[in-house]
Amino acid sequence: MLTQSVTRKPDYGVDAPGVVRVLLLVALGLCVLGFGLLLGLRWVWLAAWLLFWAFCCLAEALAMLWTSRVGKLLEMRRMLDHLVLCGDEEVLDVGCGRGMLLIEAARRLPKGHVTGIDIWSEHDQSGNSPLVTQENARLAGVAERVSVVTADARQLPFPAERFDVIVSCLALHNIHGREERRQALSEMLRVLKPDGRIAILDLAHVKQYARDLQDLGASQLTVGRPSWRVFPPLRMVLARKLPAGREDGAAEAVSGGQPSA
Ligand SMILES: C[S@@+](CC[C@H](N)C(=O)[O-])C[C@H]1O[C@@H](n2cnc3c(N)ncnc32)[C@H](O)[C@@H]1O
Repeated sequence: MLTQSVTRKPDYGVDAPGVVRVLLLVALGLCVLGFGLLLGLRWVWLAAWLLFWAFCCLAEALAMLWTSRVGKLLEMRRMLDHLVLCGDEEVLDVGCGRGMLLIEAARRLPKGHVTGIDIWSEHDQSGNSPLVTQENARLAGVAERVSVVTADARQLPFPAERFDVIVSCLALHNIHGREERRQALSEMLRVLKPDGRIAILDLAHVKQYARDLQDLGASQLTVGRPSWRVFPPLRMVLARKLPAGREDGAAEAVSGGQPSA
């Protein structure tokens, strides 16, 4: 009898699946209209215009799919490279979703631990659930170094100064309202140890995160340029929590250059 061994790999889903679906449906509708007009040899300029927009919608949907599955991972690896982890840190991933960043961090922490928190919005990521994240960690062989907790970024269920490093990717922009996002940043600083580091990748509000972190007492802030190898383009902000009473880490000006570790 033929036995087939199937090696399953983690599946990280698709970000903003509703947006991707709408773009694909619009592209399909515009194609049908455009080709219909072309076949009838009528309104050729209108047909060309419809087909141009169909192409744009299709390209945007494909770029978003590629970013969800591949491009985002490249940016996460770049962000983790900047953190230069020692391998024994306690790391928190805020808005971990199905665990791509959580698991990538756990791979770099042979003696450390990563906790992921999320509210599991399926609007923000397809099939989002703590069980899927735990299963992905198991498939990646890092389950024993990963914990998953249901919690809102604005109210983290951890004591002060618990984590060495806090990371987050494409999560904070989903929180509506500047004050609400600032509350999440304030919580992240609260649960970070003195001298601990924060690294955030996001598609919007990144300069504001840096300003808010600076106001909240973080130091050594750096904002990277938008990375156009993914779509939508992502920016990174890096910061360090100033230990109480230390004056030397006066916040640097927020730069437009590449972040440095
Ligand atoms: C686009 S997904 C990104 C997930 C993961 N960081 C990644 O890059 O694969 C955004 C995630 O943020 C989570 N999220 C949105 N609002 C949140 C909040 N207030 N607190 C915690 N997580 C939140 C969503 O549930 C979702 O899992």
